[in-house]
Amino acid sequence: MTRPLIAYFSRAGQNYVNGQVRALAVGNTEVVARMIAEETGGDLFRIETVHEYAVDYTECTEEAADEKRLKARPKLRALPKNIDDYDTVILGYPNWWGTMPMAVYTFLESFDFTNKVIMPFCTHEGSGLSGTERDIARTCPGAEVVAGLAIHGADAAHARSQVQAWLAHNGF
Ligand SMILES: Cc1cc2nc3c(=O)[nH]c(=O)nc-3n(C[C@H](O)[C@H](O)[C@H](O)COP(=O)(O)O)c2cc1C
Repeated sequence: MTRPLIAYFSRAGQNYVNGQVRALAVGNTEVVARMIAEETGGDLFRIETVHEYAVDYTECTEEAADEKRLKARPKLRALPKNIDDYDTVILGYPNWWGTMPMAVYTFLESFDFTNKVIMPFCTHEGSGLSGTERDIARTCPGAEVVAGLAIHGADAAHARSQVQAWLAHNGF
């Protein structure tokens, strides 16, 4: 198995954790992405927008709802230069309003993923993956999208065995 790219979006700041707003120094998805990098030796790439989302949870949910409604494609700070080097992209994101943050669509629409394997994982507060595997497949025709991994945000730091099992199932 070749080294995968682990591309992820994650937002530190206020978030809902088990029904309470808490400030996170490192976002939940980033915690899992780092774990996957340790387990696979893959390269980490953080999908970052030029616009920074509000630290305040409620404000951020409003920004995200507007972006979803408008089908926005927020501008990214950078893209990986060498996507052709990877056969497998492990794609991480938080569930935002039942789908991926619009920035993840910007990322996916920036490349041709034909013949690549996309392994989706998300962190969430109850909704799981929602329809994101299908959203990715629609956005990346020609890619093979495998069954994703959903981790409750509050459990991110304790998800190693779940992560290991999912990776092993996919040949890592
Ligand atoms: C804008 C926004 C929208 C969200 N929408 C959902 C949702 O629809 N369903 C859900 O289960 N969790 C939702 N959440 C909770 C996040 O998915 C969860 O806290 C996730 O672990 C955050 O990951 P991060 O810390 O890597 O950004 C939302 C959070 C934010 C900030």
